[in-house]
Amino acid sequence: MNDSPIGVFDSGLGGLTVLNELVKILPEENFIYLADLKYSPYGDKSEIELEYIIKRVLRYFVEKKVKLIVVACNTASTMDLIKKNQVEDIPIINVIDAAVDLVDEKVENLLLLATKKTTESKTYDEKIKVKNPGINLIKQACPSFVPAIESGKLNDEEIQNLVDQDLKRYRDNKLDAAILGCTHYPLWYDFIRKSLNKEVKIYDPAQSLAQKAKNFLEERNMLRRGDSYKLAVSADYCGEFNKKSRKILKNYKFDKIEEINIDF
Ligand code: DGL
Repeated sequence: MNDSPIGVFDSGLGGLTVLNELVKILPEENFIYLADLKYSPYGDKSEIELEYIIKRVLRYFVEKKVKLIVVACNTASTMDLIKKNQVEDIPIINVIDAAVDLVDEKVENLLLLATKKTTESKTYDEKIKVKNPGINLIKQACPSFVPAIESGKLNDEEIQNLVDQDLKRYRDNKLDAAILGCTHYPLWYDFIRKSLNKEVKIYDPAQSLAQKAKNFLEERNMLRRGDSYKLAVSADYCGEFNKKSRKILKNYKFDKIEEINIDF
């Protein structure tokens, strides 16, 4: 038994798609979810900027003495700091590994939908090719999605137009599957589904990542019994985030949202 919390983070709302799954299968754990809104979106940041950004998030979780860090952000998961799978003595698991686990060995043509930073990085290519060396990985950056999802201001027709702009061109491609390689994208699942051919399988790694976290804790006898979790936001948007996040985290109550400053 280990009573310490589990740290989960993303630039904003996207990682809540992972937190939803975590809370579902680990209802007695204590979670700290950090929405790093101060630096949202992560996807257009440079390597150097992201290194600073991720370093302070990891330091925050080290200070909070979490027992496990779940990186609910693909962009952060491309960074060497995360690929080390550990900070001090705290283990780290990341969403890219969980996404790659989902890819069926029969898939030949795979579309990766992700942020600019994730598509420019070789992380997905390297990890998928270990598993499926012959795969044809097509990468599509969708830089307009995250800011639009965070703002929540578009109507359905506007969202569909935005999604079609990036995805419609794949209608005639022989795609077998697509990865939602940004944790915000499942929040637009229906629009993405509509834009791609019906036969294209869509992978959302949220469940697989939650299962990985559960297996990890179970194997090491680190589960706990309890039922409270809290959200932390790194910038001055608590009120807005409060409303939006409660819509996504439909079935769960959290105690409060704390506004934090973790810059150095
Ligand atoms: N949801 C994140 C990801 O999975 C970050 C998106 C962003 O902030 O650009 O990449």
